Amino acid sequence: MSGVPSKITVPLLRARKGAGPAIVALTAYDFPTAAALDRAGVDVILVGDSVGMVLLGHDTTLPVDMDTMVHHTAAVARARPRALLVADMPFLSCSVSREESIRNAGRLVREAGAEAVKVEGAGARLEAIRGIVEADIPVMGHLGLTPQAYHRMGGYRVQGRGEEALQRLRSDLAALEDAGVFSVVLEGIPADVAGILTESCRIPTIGIGAGPRCDGQILVTHDILGLSPGPAPRFVRRYADLSARMVEAVTAFAADVTAGRFPGREESYGEGATPAGRRRSRPA
Ligand code: KIV
Repeated sequence: MSGVPSKITVPLLRARKGAGPAIVALTAYDFPTAAALDRAGVDVILVGDSVGMVLLGHDTTLPVDMDTMVHHTAAVARARPRALLVADMPFLSCSVSREESIRNAGRLVREAGAEAVKVEGAGARLEAIRGIVEADIPVMGHLGLTPQAYHRMGGYRVQGRGEEALQRLRSDLAALEDAGVFSVVLEGIPADVAGILTESCRIPTIGIGAGPRCDGQILVTHDILGLSPGPAPRFVRRYADLSARMVEAVTAFAADVTAGRFPGREESYGEGATPAGRRRSRPA
């Protein structure tokens, strides 16, 4: 039907390289957020392993395991998004062997409903990435500041500064392309480096803290909505302060309850009314 935007698939996203508007990508870890992002028309929903920090309160993404990723990816998939649904391969899920990497990626597709997976790094990950691609599971790469390499990097530090680092990124990107990834996230690198990388490859680059010259941009949804505690990183732009709105709403509810103003007649059932159900079976 004309006017109805079509489902974003891997080939459609791949074809956005150098054509069409910039790719819009955001994270989601649950059903209602995925539904809202989809209504807003984002192109890619990433179930990031950032779930460990953003929702579960860990200091890094390292504690996130496969079961956690399957659980959250399945919740997002239930929103049946028009957006392409990409799920992160968590720490160590792609490091032990090619076979185990394929099995893990397969769980995200078969058990959870992901349409592609994202793998951090190149080098030692290339063999696994090739295996996953050969198993017909599309792979998104991730270069630059790769949060799973937290300890090797000595913290979350900007990467790709200096000629040697640029050349390493260029050869990692070429190797990922050769291994068959359909797009790549570039995180935490100087804007001019991201520009050079973007011009040097045939796949779309999606930047986070990588300046304006990438083919698309991704941010953590909780950061743009003001739901993450503490100051936001420099590369985040805040579009709302939902944390403050939540405190206001909950404070107002508490005040109504303690003052006896909630529930009122309009929120109460008379005799013979059916008991309240859950989400999909609520009596009017
Ligand atoms: O885990 C994540 O959310 C990510 C993106 C922010 C790129 O990897």
